[in-house]
Amino acid sequence: MKLLSKTVTGLEEILAKEIEDLGGQNIQILKRAVSFEGDLKTLYRTNLELRTSIRVLKPIYSFQARDENEFYRKIKELDWSQYMSNKDTLAVDATTFGEYFTHSKYISLKAKDAIVDQFRDNTGRRPNVNVVSPTLRISIHIQIDEVIVSLDSSGDPLFKRGYRVERMGAPMNEVLAAGMILLTGWDKKSDFMDGMCGSGTLPIEAGLIARNMPSQWNRTSFGFQTWKDFDNDLWQEVRAEAKAKIVPFEYKISGHDRDFKAVSVARVNIMKAELDDTIDVKRTTFEKLEATSEKGIMILNPPYNERLAIKNINELYKMMGDQFKQQFKGWEVWVISSNMEALKHIGLRPSKKIHLMNGPLNCKYVKFEMYDGTRRKVFKEKIEES
Ligand SMILES: C[S@@+](CC[C@H](N)C(=O)[O-])C[C@H]1O[C@@H](n2cnc3c(N)ncnc32)[C@H](O)[C@@H]1O
Repeated sequence: MKLLSKTVTGLEEILAKEIEDLGGQNIQILKRAVSFEGDLKTLYRTNLELRTSIRVLKPIYSFQARDENEFYRKIKELDWSQYMSNKDTLAVDATTFGEYFTHSKYISLKAKDAIVDQFRDNTGRRPNVNVVSPTLRISIHIQIDEVIVSLDSSGDPLFKRGYRVERMGAPMNEVLAAGMILLTGWDKKSDFMDGMCGSGTLPIEAGLIARNMPSQWNRTSFGFQTWKDFDNDLWQEVRAEAKAKIVPFEYKISGHDRDFKAVSVARVNIMKAELDDTIDVKRTTFEKLEATSEKGIMILNPPYNERLAIKNINELYKMMGDQFKQQFKGWEVWVISSNMEALKHIGLRPSKKIHLMNGPLNCKYVKFEMYDGTRRKVFKEKIEES
């Protein structure tokens, strides 16, 4: 079957690689999405394991329409009893681009009317709408006059992993956090640190990656579980196979924050994620933070002075740069921020810059390689030898 996975700006290639690793075929990178092909098992695996996917859609029907009557008529032409009964509930989400259809809410309403009217005409009873947990979540995408109707196999978006018990400040989207870790190319053979961890999203995603735990290990429901063709035996097999691949992790993953409340929120979330034996969280100010070993990866999502206001943002970033130089020799440090001016105050030249969106904020994700003296010496000796 044809499938489509949605993601956020900048993570398309990482997502395509993840899909390939899970056995997806005919993979094509699109804007904020990746299309691919696979069987029912691929559908279940991608929902359970993809880290950078927001949802996995199964396109079922496409047609052309230029006005609402034509749209309504064509939606009604599809035999919806293949996918649900009049006792089931439905929800319709729509996105529209182009001049013919401009109101996505109206399109959702029209599609819903067409489907419930078909059941009323054929059975005398209309199915109900349930926007929170419907039996069938339908997704409509209109690009000018091309309409694609898909079933949403994920249900709730896949950034709702099920481990976030408590929120704090400006938590990072789990899909973005996982993508940022995968973008570093971390080989899982060194320590991982987040010195401004807030509610713990980055350390938790790092823990899941390090232990090879599926991204949705703590989630209890998916859209496909209420589909007519749901194969529970296959789903249990997919879960068991994923469980068998979980491994221990011998390096350190740690989160730090200067805020007491953030540290306690992070601990609760880490316990819910079943990672309390993998991740250490401590209340530490970045000014006093020390590296846990000679080399490792640190990712920071500092305040940007947008959602979290900071008195002297440039000073904060300057202090971060000083700490990288003094305490993190031998480490790779990655920082995401929408504050381009503050980023300059880190005072180091990044070796990589990646454009990412953190929600509505245009961000730069920059890499600093903090070579230590001994490494420089080895490198110099190598050059002299050759
Ligand atoms: C944008 S939030 C991080 C959100 C986090 N990624 C999450 O998903 O919840 C920035 C965090 O930096 C912390 N912070 C700011 N200045 C700090 C400092 N000097 N030392 C340690 N933590 C600091 C704040 O307390 C806040 O929790």
